[in-house]
Amino acid sequence: MGDDAAMPRRAPSRPGHDVMRSLRSAGAFRQHLEITPEPATQVAGGADPVTDTPPLDGPEGKPALVVEHLTKRFGDRVAFDDVSFEVGYGEVFGFLGPNGAGKTTTVRTLGTLIAPSSGSAIVAGIPVTAKNGPAIRARISLMPESPGLYLRLTVAENLKCFAGLYQLADARYRIDRALQAVNLTDRANDLCGSLSKGLRQRVALARALLNDPAVLFLDEPTSGLDPVATREVHDLIASLRERGVTIFLTTHRLEEAERLCHRVAILNTTLRVVGRPAELREQLFTRYLEVRVRAALGDPGRVFNGLPDVDSWAQEPSGPYRLAVSDPDAAAPAVARALVNAGADILSIAESRHSLEDVYLKLVDEDVEAKRR
Ligand SMILES: Nc1ncnc2c1ncn2[C@@H]1O[C@H](COP(=O)(O)OP(=O)(O)OP(=O)(O)O)[C@@H](O)[C@H]1O
Ligand SMILES: [Mg+2]
Repeated sequence: MGDDAAMPRRAPSRPGHDVMRSLRSAGAFRQHLEITPEPATQVAGGADPVTDTPPLDGPEGKPALVVEHLTKRFGDRVAFDDVSFEVGYGEVFGFLGPNGAGKTTTVRTLGTLIAPSSGSAIVAGIPVTAKNGPAIRARISLMPESPGLYLRLTVAENLKCFAGLYQLADARYRIDRALQAVNLTDRANDLCGSLSKGLRQRVALARALLNDPAVLFLDEPTSGLDPVATREVHDLIASLRERGVTIFLTTHRLEEAERLCHRVAILNTTLRVVGRPAELREQLFTRYLEVRVRAALGDPGRVFNGLPDVDSWAQEPSGPYRLAVSDPDAAAPAVARALVNAGADILSIAESRHSLEDVYLKLVDEDVEAKRR
């Protein structure tokens, strides 16, 4: 599948973003966290939770990330190979893949912590070269899998230290806003060593927001967190997404990607696929209508054979009929009419949909099979 085919068309370009400015006042942010009801999320069988499509192009008419044929080798070991994709400004881009797939190495390469072996990349409008490293690092933030905080310093001292490394002039103001953004103002004077894992993740996220990054890299931000702490981090990311922050998110949590990301890429050393979760489901799987009737049909072939848009049908062992269709919306009314004409009592006619997990497992299983051959 070509990446271009999977690339959603976008609204007109929007200027770059000022994360901290866009987070607005702390009060408004807290209000968002506490009052805004959780948007309904259907992982398997629902519409895509992320329906808005952010603009692809930034102020200079360029995407936030342009990666072309990028490869990183450590000696004989290939961490990732010939990877190409683009990420638009304001997009939340999920980067999925099994352990050792090359996700963290990709993040470290794009974050200019290590040099690629070959290929090219442009990060926040700046080509990745040894010379450009400092300029790129000033425009991005990277939240690594482990927070890497100074445990004997307080939360505020940690942020001050990192604001100093960024040489931020208005450090105090930025620290206050970052703490407010992650709802940690009241823990500012606590030692980081005394914080729970989830709270440390939030401090790390606050640190990543200090410099108003044009691109925010989050490497498994919810790894090892309990459901409540995970939910808090999800809410923070969703809130950043609503404010147009460009986020590159690696994760093993497929429901997290499905819920938060506009598009996802699945990496397994090489890039297997890029697209919106709904597009990937459609491209990789046949679409089905599942038909439930009160009593088994006497002659299902007479009902389903020859119906427009129904390619084939079968009865599942548990009773329902599974109809392979090219367009469920077009097929369903004709199926309903045929059932009524046959005197059947319809209980339901519904599209049976695949989850992002199905997509992921299909691709990764294919790789396992290919390696066996
Ligand atoms: N500094 C290094 N030296 C040698 N090999 C490395 C180095 N860093 C990563 N690798 C190798 O590159 C491959 C990709 O590793 P990477 O950490 O990017 O995977 P990942 O997708 O982030 O995995 P996980 O889901 O477990 O975090 C692995 O085989 C890893 O052992
Ligand atoms: Mg990793």
